[in-house]
Amino acid sequence: MEKNIEQIKQEFLSELQEVKNQQEFEALRVKYLGRKGILQDLFKRLGAASPEERPRLGKQINELKVFLTEKVNEAKARFSARKKTARIDLTLPGRKPPVGRKHPLTQTLDDMKRFFLSLGFTVADGPEVETDYYNFEALNIPKNHPARDMQDTLYITEEILLRTHTSPVQIRTMQAQQPPVRIIAPGRVYRRDTPDASHSPFFHQVEGLCVDKGISFGDLKAVIEEFAKYMFGADIHVRFRPSFFPFTEPSLEYDFNCVFCRGKGCKVCKYTGWVEISGAGMVDPNVFTAVGYDPEVYTGYAFGMGVDRIAMLRYGIDDIRLFFENDLRFLSQF
Ligand code: FA5
Ligand code: MG
Repeated sequence: MEKNIEQIKQEFLSELQEVKNQQEFEALRVKYLGRKGILQDLFKRLGAASPEERPRLGKQINELKVFLTEKVNEAKARFSARKKTARIDLTLPGRKPPVGRKHPLTQTLDDMKRFFLSLGFTVADGPEVETDYYNFEALNIPKNHPARDMQDTLYITEEILLRTHTSPVQIRTMQAQQPPVRIIAPGRVYRRDTPDASHSPFFHQVEGLCVDKGISFGDLKAVIEEFAKYMFGADIHVRFRPSFFPFTEPSLEYDFNCVFCRGKGCKVCKYTGWVEISGAGMVDPNVFTAVGYDPEVYTGYAFGMGVDRIAMLRYGIDDIRLFFENDLRFLSQF
């Protein structure tokens, strides 16, 4: 039996050398250390040994057990480690990092800028956190004027607020330079509007201002009609209708025909067949006087277009709120 034990050791070692994977290793472990394995068999046969031999044999079998257990534990670590590294499959194709793209509003804004830059306009900028003076007073909207009601906003103090439109940039620009002026001012604006399909409390406008000698209403109309064709193609219809703004005289608003219902009426156009795009008008002489331009010498037009509405019409988006939800299933379509 002693000879047998030494033989078992040698056999075990050479079998262990042959083991190639986790499965074969497990089979080897069971063969030697399992409940019906070789080691258990030796312990059983110990009972049959003579009482004089038993203590020495028992000791040898125990040593064999320690030896086998140690080797098995050592190998176990090696095989499970091997299993982990085997998981890296270098032949798999790499994972593509997601590629970003411009938000549909940015794309629309870029196209709007391109059109106006081609006509010689430059881009002006102004703060989103504005003073009451620039947002209202300088635009001929005194405190308590009813025109303020349509643009109720978020006040930071009595005198500081989130701008409700991009029109304050008109004033800042005219204060900073003499005519001729030809600027657009794109940017974010804020109003306490209740959200619906075509209204958001946060949206975008592109202001336009053109001041020079001899600028007429006809110039405004031509520029807007060309703009509509540039953005939507020759089939677009533009509707001009009279309106009121305290800083333009006369004032108007213009609408584009609704692409969703083709004029039949739907929730986007509020069942009118038209989507309001912009306010506009000839700059009020009082505004010129307040910034130090001579209203007897200069005339000009101004407009303030809703960028989000234009993007809705362009891409066939029937709810403005989709722009601001950051849902990639929506955004990755543009
Ligand atoms: C104005 O904001 C004026 N400052 C426009 C102006 C500029 C008039 C220069 C004269 C001279 P109005 O409140 O109508 O006007 O807004 C202009 C456009 O912004 C609207 O025609 C519409 O397209 C868009 N708009 C207004 N409110 C919202 C809203 N809550 N959500 C999305 N778009 C809006
Ligand atoms: Mg309006």
